[in-house]
Amino acid sequence: LKASIPFFRDIEPELIERLLPYMYSKNYRKGELIFLEGDQGNDIFFIGSGSVSIYSFDKSKKVILAVLREGEYFGEMALMKPGLVRSATAECLMPTRLYGLRRTDFQLLIENDRNIAFHLLDYTMDRLRRANQQIHDLTFLNVRSRIVKKLLTLAQDYSSDELNEFVIPVKITHQQLAEMVGAARETVTKVLQELQDEGLIAIQGKRVHLQDIQLIKKKLNEEI
Ligand code: CMP
Repeated sequence: LKASIPFFRDIEPELIERLLPYMYSKNYRKGELIFLEGDQGNDIFFIGSGSVSIYSFDKSKKVILAVLREGEYFGEMALMKPGLVRSATAECLMPTRLYGLRRTDFQLLIENDRNIAFHLLDYTMDRLRRANQQIHDLTFLNVRSRIVKKLLTLAQDYSSDELNEFVIPVKITHQQLAEMVGAARETVTKVLQELQDEGLIAIQGKRVHLQDIQLIKKKLNEEI
């Protein structure tokens, strides 16, 4: 647990020992819902393996707020005050293993270890920064730039080295990309085709290869 979830690296080992009996694990299938926006929430979840999409939707549209991966956690917001409900829906994008912790045990964790409180604050601020960036992009960038920027962010999130070629190693559908950038699926298809024609990206087996990341960044800056 400690190796795969950074959150637990900051916790005193004795506290982890105390918590382990209270943590339960559960495997989910691809497409399985963990909870729905508006549900009562009593658990926080840590991702042991797999990937989870956090989104909001109404009758006709869906917006993906974040795609979380191994080592990240979610569901803490509804635990902060009694009566709060889930602020978004959580769904597994692939077979996923989650570790859950109930409200009272999570509270024990926060009260007993100030590192945890700092960790939560740090994580929350990071998310707020990303959310602000999303608001900025939706307000100021045109749809092509939003798509290009999202591809860059995804590639950077998934790649750690300084190579000039980046790949988004997970299969992302046009529909999902559209839901991440607030565009129609048809527009995403059209823009991805344009980017391929311009030699900026290549798509192999639904995986997007960003051919020349410096050139893509340069073009993005020119377009903004
Ligand atoms: P909670 O409100 O309990 O349920 C939905 C969860 O999604 C929420 O807790 C957070 O953990 C997570 N979440 C909500 N909004 C965002 C966001 N903008 N970015 C990343 N995660 C989010």
